[in-house]
Formats: sequence, structure tokens, C-alpha cells
Amino acid sequence: MEQKKVYYHDYLHLDKILDAQYPESDLPGNEPAHDEMFFIIIHQAYELWFKLILFELDFIISVFKKEKIDDNSEDLNLVRHRLNRINKILNLLTTQITLLDTMTPLDFLEFRNLLVPASGFQSVQFRLIEARLGLQMENRFNKEYYKRTNEGGFAKNDFDKINDTEKEKSLLILVNEWLERMPFFEKDLWKNYQSLFPVKENLHPFWSDYRHIYQSSLNEREANKIEDFDRIFFPIIDSTEGNKDTLLSPRAMRAALFIMLYRDFPVFQTTYQILDGLIEMDNQLSNWRHKHIDMVRRMIGLRMGTGNTSGRGYLEGALNSHYIFKDLSSMATFLFERKRLPVLPTELIKKMSYSD
Ligand code: HEM
Repeated sequence: MEQKKVYYHDYLHLDKILDAQYPESDLPGNEPAHDEMFFIIIHQAYELWFKLILFELDFIISVFKKEKIDDNSEDLNLVRHRLNRINKILNLLTTQITLLDTMTPLDFLEFRNLLVPASGFQSVQFRLIEARLGLQMENRFNKEYYKRTNEGGFAKNDFDKINDTEKEKSLLILVNEWLERMPFFEKDLWKNYQSLFPVKENLHPFWSDYRHIYQSSLNEREANKIEDFDRIFFPIIDSTEGNKDTLLSPRAMRAALFIMLYRDFPVFQTTYQILDGLIEMDNQLSNWRHKHIDMVRRMIGLRMGTGNTSGRGYLEGALNSHYIFKDLSSMATFLFERKRLPVLPTELIKKMSYSD
């Protein structure tokens, strides 16, 4: 059978996409506002990229949902690759804000009132990205804004969609489970480990040494960091349920720290790059939020947003409190120089090197 000839315009459904720009200022009775077309298209371009980010996140989440992830399979490599794509898109989205410099505050005022109470705040796809990553309603800044079903809030079905997504296992939870499954502290692998210092009660000999070296690396003013170390990595009740300081559990935190320390071993390379990619994603989202706030300050000053929040106050609160993988980036607090790291037992080195 002859293959159907694909036509560019049809393949991309350009009839729909190019027929989806309807400025409010074109409606009868309103004054024409030239820049509204630009304003609509820039938002639509964002939403298309948000759609792709969600698509890539779905893939990444599907891998982490597997009961067993083979560290040496293409799955993890694809996760790394697609995380990198998301980060590049987020970088583009931050740069894209500079396009708004071509619209002055007075140009915006020509149609701004026609938009009330709509706002980027109501971008369901943006909220789904946050929810899939692991942001929970209870941890959102000024959460009551989200619960409004009137001026500036979400339509009921959109609000339900965001809530339902929050109830599913987020990437943060799945990464936590994945880290908890890391098998590198099995007894057999450590039977020939040579402790450097007397082993502290209840601690694995490696962590006991690590704690000792870390403590000796702290200067007088940082001395209390050892309490943070104990609380975060070795709380008295060592459960997988987590503690108040971190969203990741102590066990997952230990695995992440171990991977960061020994990331040069082949078995950890992709894993390390994935953790780094998650930290980068938080950074990219925060860069976007920063850039958006600067643009908003220039565009509307201290006025409230069209979505009826306090405007700049809300945006700064969200910037400061909506980091998702902050436990991973805070890991740097607990590092010391590579040359002081304990030497690992040969059985473990073998396992980490993929050698027979
Ligand atoms: C003239 C340009 C813009 C102005 C003055 C502006 C202003 C604001 C303000 C004041 C808010 C807080 C909510 C409110 O009260 O409305 C907000 C939130 C938001 N806007 Fe914009 N915005 C602009 C362009 C954009 C663009 C192009 C996007 C791209 C999709 C966008 C996406 C968002 C998002 C996602 C939020 C929620 C941010 C968060 O919760 O961290 N905005 N915007």
C-alpha cells in the first residue's frame, strides 16, 4: 500500500494552533491594544513547553515506578538524558522572559484590566509540573490562594486535577524509595573494612569514621553542624519515614551522600548525574521565578497581580519556599576533602566497578 503523503501544515495541526489567538482588546467595545497578540503568543509558547516537560516527566516517573531499576540498563541513561532536556527547556523559558522587555508598562496597561482575574498563577500545567515533582498543597506558600474557587483561583475541575496529581507518588517520593533501595551497605560487602577510629555505638563502621572525619573538618564556628549531621543522617529513631529537617528519609539521605562521595565509580556515574540533574531542575525553576519577579517588578511595580495575589510578595514567597530537591543540594554541607575519605573494602569496590 502506498504510504500517505504527510503535509507539513496537517501534521502539525497548524489550523488549530494558528487559530487560537483571540485578543480581548479586539472585541467590540474595547480599545485595540497592539501588544496583546504578543502577550497571548508568549503564554501559549510557554504552555507548549510545559506540555513537553510533563511528557518527559511522565517517562521519568514511569522508570522510577518500576520495582527494580537495573543501574546498568538504558532506563537510567534515558532518565538522565530526558532530565537534561527538561533543564535545557527551563533554561530557554527563563531566557524567553526577556522578550517581555519589548513591552513597556504603558503598553501592558492598554489591555491589563481586560485580563482580570486571569493570571499565570492559574497555569494548571505549571502546577502539575510542581505537583509531579513533589510540591504538596500544604507546603505551598500562601496555600489559601490555591483554594480560592472564585477571583483568581482555579476552576473546580482544575483544582481537583492538581490535588489528584499530588496524591500520586511524586518524583521526590520515588527518588526517595530508589535511594533507600541502594544495596551498598549489605554486611558482606564490609566484612574486610578497616575502621580508622573506634566505632561509635549503633553506627555502621564506615559512617562512624565518616562522622569522625567530618567533625574534625569543622571549625569552631561550624562545630554545631555535627548535630545537624546526626539529626539528618542518624536520628535516634532511624526509620524510613523521614524527619522534620528533610523531605528525604535518613536512609535515602545516606545513600545520596554516599553516591556523591564515590561518584567517580562507574556504577554511580549515571546515578550521580541524575541527582545532579534534579538539583539543576530546582535551580532552573528558581532562575525562572527570579527572572519572572524582576520582570513583574518592572511591569506592574508594587501593584497586586491580575490573579489577585499580593503580587511581588506572593512571588517572592513562592521563590523561597517551593524548592523540591533542596535536601540534595544541601548535601554539600556535609562533605570534606576527597583525600580524607575512608578507603573502601575490596568487595565493595569490585561491586561498584562492574568488574567480575
Ligand atoms: C506582563 C507580563 C506578566 C506579568 C505582569 C505577570 C505577573 C504575575 C503576577 C503578579 C503573578 C502572581 C499571581 C497574581 O496575582 O497574578 C504571576 C504568577 C505567575 N505567572 Fe506571571 N506575569 C507575566 C507574564 C507571565 C508569563 C509570560 C508566564 C508564562 C507562563 C507567566 C507565568 C506565571 C506563573 C506560572 C505564575 C505562578 C508563579 C508561582 O506560583 O511561582 N507569567 N505573574
